[in-house]
Amino acid sequence: MAEIVFDRISKRFGGHTVVDSLSLTVHDRELLTLVGPSGCGKSTTLNMLAGLEDPTEGLISIDGRVVNAVPSGARDIAMVFQSYALYPHMTVRDNIGFGLKVRGLDRATIDQRVNEAARMLDIAPLLDRRPKDLSGGQRQRVALGRALTRNPKAFLLDEPLSNLDAQLRTQMRAELKMLFERVEGTVVYVTHDQAEAMTLSDRLVVMRDGKVQQIGAPLEVYNHPVNTFVARFLGSPSINLVPGVLERADSGDWSLAGEGFRVALPPRLADAAAAAPGREALLGVRPEDITLSSPDHGIPVRVDLVEPMGSLNVIYGSVGGVRLVATVSPNSTFGTGAAIGMAFDPERLHLFDAASGSALAAR
Ligand SMILES: Nc1ncnc2c1ncn2[C@@H]1O[C@H](COP(=O)(O)OP(=O)(O)O)[C@@H](O)[C@H]1O
Ligand SMILES: [Mg+2]
Repeated sequence: MAEIVFDRISKRFGGHTVVDSLSLTVHDRELLTLVGPSGCGKSTTLNMLAGLEDPTEGLISIDGRVVNAVPSGARDIAMVFQSYALYPHMTVRDNIGFGLKVRGLDRATIDQRVNEAARMLDIAPLLDRRPKDLSGGQRQRVALGRALTRNPKAFLLDEPLSNLDAQLRTQMRAELKMLFERVEGTVVYVTHDQAEAMTLSDRLVVMRDGKVQQIGAPLEVYNHPVNTFVARFLGSPSINLVPGVLERADSGDWSLAGEGFRVALPPRLADAAAAAPGREALLGVRPEDITLSSPDHGIPVRVDLVEPMGSLNVIYGSVGGVRLVATVSPNSTFGTGAAIGMAFDPERLHLFDAASGSALAAR
């Protein structure tokens, strides 16, 4: 398996920069995810690694060897796309083994590798079927099987689950995670789905407009986003970003003063506030870090809507013109129109500069 290095990789189409000086090391046997909204340059990045696109600038190395001039077929990587591109006239067995046959491997070796992949993917009983007789999830597994039999230096997957319905996607996500743990491969995974990136990755790379925003382990990035874009992108429902001004109260404590409310800042954030008195800021608080209480505690909020999800309730409230979303136990009994208090967990607050969106406090 392999370490992959992107060294100041840029890609321009015409005058349009779609990947902007991306530097990144994918560690050996790591599952690294490129995640970001549609059009942010994820597929272009993966395609450059695969050799399907040439970088405009920069170097890509696999296992210490610069591969810019190495043709795709000689890079020893296996790619799985959103569209499975199976051969309709071939059986599952022949689809999975096709790449090996082309490379001239003997029948016994091919059979052995195909059977092993089929066993790992739980599709052994389907080997004699044709793609049209398979469900979407089964077809996706066949495409994965084809990649697995190759025994490549790295697996590249571009939105492999986005053709599947929501329930199957969640199931395949867990299966992929377990599969790649067993295979111990280096995997570069592309998705626009933050939940997929959070659950699958050893590390994830959040991209926006061709630029890397943040690289880290999922919970590291979730808990310490460097800017409001990353903070909003990860997590569902999204983080609340409450606008206000950084002010010192008569007591000497620093707070964020908003329209009709004031939130005291913990010492960690007070230092940042003291460095920027009067600045317009956004206080970030995730829905799960809000507790509900009587209106005399926390921020006084009117409940606009309660969404019962079964496992939890999503509470939409507002104070002044600010919308706040909290997720609470399904046993909570607040109804629409109720006057309540929302209390923010001080240990879990984030502070961002309103103008730039950058985090104001390091941890
Ligand atoms: N061959 C191409 N020619 C011109 N523009 C392209 C080409 N391929 C991709 N792009 C543009 O590059 C940007 C990034 O595309 P892509 O890497 O596919 O994004 P993502 O996979 O993150 O959705 C988009 O604005 C897209 O329109
Ligand atoms: Mg894409």
